[in-house]
Amino acid sequence: MDESKLFVRTIERNDGQEININQCEVGDVGCVVWDAAIVLAKYFETPDFENGHAWRNKCVVELGAGTGVVGLLVASYGAKTIMTDLAEFVPLIEYNIDFNKTLFQMEASAKTLKWGEPTVDTPEYRNIDVVIVADCIYYDESLEPLVNTMYDLCSKDTFVYCCYEERTTGNKPELQRRFMQLSSEKFEIEEIPMSQQDPVFCSKDIHILKMTLKPLDT
Ligand SMILES: C[S@@+](CC[C@H](N)C(=O)[O-])C[C@H]1O[C@@H](n2cnc3c(N)ncnc32)[C@H](O)[C@@H]1O
Repeated sequence: MDESKLFVRTIERNDGQEININQCEVGDVGCVVWDAAIVLAKYFETPDFENGHAWRNKCVVELGAGTGVVGLLVASYGAKTIMTDLAEFVPLIEYNIDFNKTLFQMEASAKTLKWGEPTVDTPEYRNIDVVIVADCIYYDESLEPLVNTMYDLCSKDTFVYCCYEERTTGNKPELQRRFMQLSSEKFEIEEIPMSQQDPVFCSKDIHILKMTLKPLDT
């Protein structure tokens, strides 16, 4: 990673604490902060999460973390957080963890996790309270692997928060439809209304889904 090509975006928590996110001038989609990530991060500071304090001691895994912005926000409120992405993005996430390290009381780490690869043999991926997915409904070939990884990481007590920007171009509407179809086979899905989201950082094009495993048939 070329540090001379980094530029910082500052995310301000509701209490004024700043989180500084390094983004890359050049690189693939994961190297900048996406709007859906900001909307989700700010939702995590609303009264639904005791203004952020509900994150204390939670075990969180973020998928397709990119710069790590959402994971860094919950880690700053005391969650033990593993931010994951393809191997090429791990150095940027590690850099951002180190850049903000004074904010964390629990462990914040970066790991390679390609969707669809097995997670069951990795002890850190057990007993996860929350799985975070921000703006990852993007790739035709990895849609089903993404849903499978979300499923693999969940127990009956796990919540998945998935935020995506509704896009109308190319194959994106079809991808979103397929994501809902595949997810609804495995998860109960509830959409968080805008009235419950951050009043400033919300948009009618950005959706937050709260998902839990469907009960097994008995
Ligand atoms: C649009 S970016 C969103 C980044 C970040 N969550 C945000 O919202 O700012 C999608 C992310 O998914 C990651 N990604 C794409 N395909 C993946 C795969 N097969 N396995 C793991 N991560 C993947 C990309 O590297 C990228 O970081």
